[in-house]
Amino acid sequence: MEHKQWWLDGVGYIIYPQSFLDSNGDGFGDLNGLRSKLDYLRDLGVNILWICPIFDSPMDDGGYDVRDYYKVNPLYGSNEDLDCLIREAHERGIRILLDLTLNHTSIEHEWFKKAVADPNCEERGYYIIRKGKRENGKLLPPNNWESFFFTSAWENIEGTDDFYLHLFSPKMPDVDWSNPKLRERYHEIARHYLDRGVDGFRLDAIAHIAKAPGLPDSTKAPDSTGFVPDTDMYSNRPEVLDYLREFNELVFSHYDCLTVGEAGGCISPEQALKLVNKKDGPINMVFNFDCVWQNGAWDSIGKNPEERQLDLVNLKKNFLRWYEVCHKQADMPLYWCNHDHPRVLSQYGSKDYRTESAKCLLITLLFLYGTPFIYQGEEIGMANPAYPSIEDYFADAGERCEVPALRKQGYSDAAILDNLQRTSRLSGRSPIPWNHNENGGFTSGTPWLKLGEEYKHGINVLDEMNDPWSIINFYQYAILKRRLPDINETVLNGELQIIDIENPDIFCYLHDGTEKLMVVSNFRPYEVKFDFYWRIKDVVLHNYDSVLLDNHTFTLRPFESFLLKV
Ligand code: GLC
Repeated sequence: MEHKQWWLDGVGYIIYPQSFLDSNGDGFGDLNGLRSKLDYLRDLGVNILWICPIFDSPMDDGGYDVRDYYKVNPLYGSNEDLDCLIREAHERGIRILLDLTLNHTSIEHEWFKKAVADPNCEERGYYIIRKGKRENGKLLPPNNWESFFFTSAWENIEGTDDFYLHLFSPKMPDVDWSNPKLRERYHEIARHYLDRGVDGFRLDAIAHIAKAPGLPDSTKAPDSTGFVPDTDMYSNRPEVLDYLREFNELVFSHYDCLTVGEAGGCISPEQALKLVNKKDGPINMVFNFDCVWQNGAWDSIGKNPEERQLDLVNLKKNFLRWYEVCHKQADMPLYWCNHDHPRVLSQYGSKDYRTESAKCLLITLLFLYGTPFIYQGEEIGMANPAYPSIEDYFADAGERCEVPALRKQGYSDAAILDNLQRTSRLSGRSPIPWNHNENGGFTSGTPWLKLGEEYKHGINVLDEMNDPWSIINFYQYAILKRRLPDINETVLNGELQIIDIENPDIFCYLHDGTEKLMVVSNFRPYEVKFDFYWRIKDVVLHNYDSVLLDNHTFTLRPFESFLLKV
């Protein structure tokens, strides 16, 4: 496959459209709201937008449950609005990636409705529908797989013995990629949007599109739900490569487009390389999950605070593992978080050192090997909003399923709320505050999800812009640096070395290329000493106003971070 690689001097930005900016007062962000902020995004310095799904959807799972792939969600606008957005983005040198859900549709998709209504229709074969088991008169699911939403992965079709498979919400039936007719439908959808001018796709949940042939029971032990979360059965199976090869051959390779797969399910860099290597990988990059949740927060409801600390050594090793396999052979995206995670400021940074930690996280990510993707709101240092009640979190399909599961396991509501406040992905979805007016200027109506309180106290775009030392102004400056040809060349082609990788507090790395670029970041909310024997030629970026370097020892203040030329 020929790569034109326009994304290699790019910086990406992830948009959760529902929460970006509402232009018509219905409480939901929309395409015209986004369009009105294209100058803002250009000035920030980003030039690739991954927009989470914008297709017509009953919104069980924030639009990942698609009802009609050919129609823009009326909450977000019209097909014409999308055309305008694409055109105006291109005028500003910004490329658009749409988010394509390939693993499932909504139960309200025409295909699924037909599939349920008529067992003999073509669409029946688009889904994974099997007879349940009858044991002692009781109807049980066809196998013991667990969904990612903490329930059986099967839902009964009312009035029948049939079940459909759903790895995510019960309202999102999985489609059957082993069916060539189904694959053709997705090829047509992708072609349609590429012909309309989009520049590529984020391919949702591709890790899961192939299932173990015959759909056997997992032989692993069930968890507290009584079912088995077994990625061997439905993640990163070899057929994924075949399906994506065909997709590339028939569609992607005919366009100058970027394809970034979402590869969860514990994919290894070696497995990923088959999908993304520059020689014959069918897609361009994959988002892996190895650098998120390195603070013990995942599945942490029963853990005490000591077990919920950032494991910086592991984080560094994970970056290095992926670098070592992908460098020279494949492109890689970099990110701290997206719409599926709590805010990185609350995960790895600190609200007590909001400005310092937001800048530190940016410097550290921006100069690693890969194409950085910033998640909306990171540029103003948004933290988790800590909603006051469990019900506030029911705006998310995952939480609607998780909370009953946790209650069944005997956790108190206080423990569940604390867990949600720390770990819910809804935290990353609170609307963007554009100013300090009511609802942060996000909407003139009632926002679909409450904003946190912080926008009233300076954490909003306008106030951030007005402060010369703010996070947002630092972002602009740092991204400008990242995109300078010499620096970009060094980051992408220089040799990366992580210095003192076993150091539990300091993330220090060196890129040895056209330039010698070094990042030194203290990831702790306290002072840490760090031995340093390099000659500093230039301090390119720094988040404090003085340097404490004495007799080859840095005194690094909380979240102090440098980009140096050495
Ligand atoms: C991806 C999306 C997530 C969604 C899931 C099911 O992981 O990022 O938001 O819930 O797929 O589509």
